[in-house]
Amino acid sequence: MRKKIVAGNWKMNLLWDEALGLAQGVSEASTKVNNAELIVFPPFIFAPTIISKNPELNVGLQNFYPADKGAFTGEVSITQAKNIGAKYVLIGHSERRAIFNENEAFLKEKVNAALANDLTPVFCCGEPLEIREANEELNYVKQQLMDSLFHLSADDMAKCIVAYEPVWAIGTGKTASVEQAESMHKSIRSWIAEHYSKELSEEISILYGGSCNASNAKELFACENVDGGLIGGAALQLDAFISIAQSF
Ligand code: 13P
Repeated sequence: MRKKIVAGNWKMNLLWDEALGLAQGVSEASTKVNNAELIVFPPFIFAPTIISKNPELNVGLQNFYPADKGAFTGEVSITQAKNIGAKYVLIGHSERRAIFNENEAFLKEKVNAALANDLTPVFCCGEPLEIREANEELNYVKQQLMDSLFHLSADDMAKCIVAYEPVWAIGTGKTASVEQAESMHKSIRSWIAEHYSKELSEEISILYGGSCNASNAKELFACENVDGGLIGGAALQLDAFISIAQSF
């Protein structure tokens, strides 16, 4: 059975009290959510306190630099991420690709660095609107996986989580339809089967992200190949996030 996962990417939102309050709320509520694993990705600066105050909560980092240490002013290393007790890292989010120019080779380095430090990569992929309009989304997403993820050995690939986040659905209120989501997730699983094995493809959780909320989560999560969600805006409200987590 694949793991069902609902993860909240808080992006660059919330202040100290709000972040700590939300983390505590998610941690307490996670005992009520027994059919899905919950993960939160708070801003860096709040992560160590959230981890030490909520030992049961799964916490990941939204970003890191793929080196152990050194002269990289302003960056946080993968070893520092591990050192504070983070368990997951987001890699390849479209905002990092577009705003911070993270390219395929750099994302590959990040995937390798995360795995070398026993952190679970949540590898994000997804096409922009013009690619979807040109009906090129399958080729585009497949290439993203080939460029930065499919170099892994089967053992390492088995440790990863994939998140499909169509760029046109992120923060727009325009969710992928059930058909669009299932078709892409099914394709992603088939490419994993092609590159590795059918068995491995059946084990990997593939999350959907992009305007997923308490109203549409149920139908999305009912898709055979959708194993949960990577939630942005709706993860900032405790009730909405927990309601999404209870949508399986
Ligand atoms: P929204 O849920 O706000 O569309 O964001 C999705 C996302 O980017 C999660 O990583």
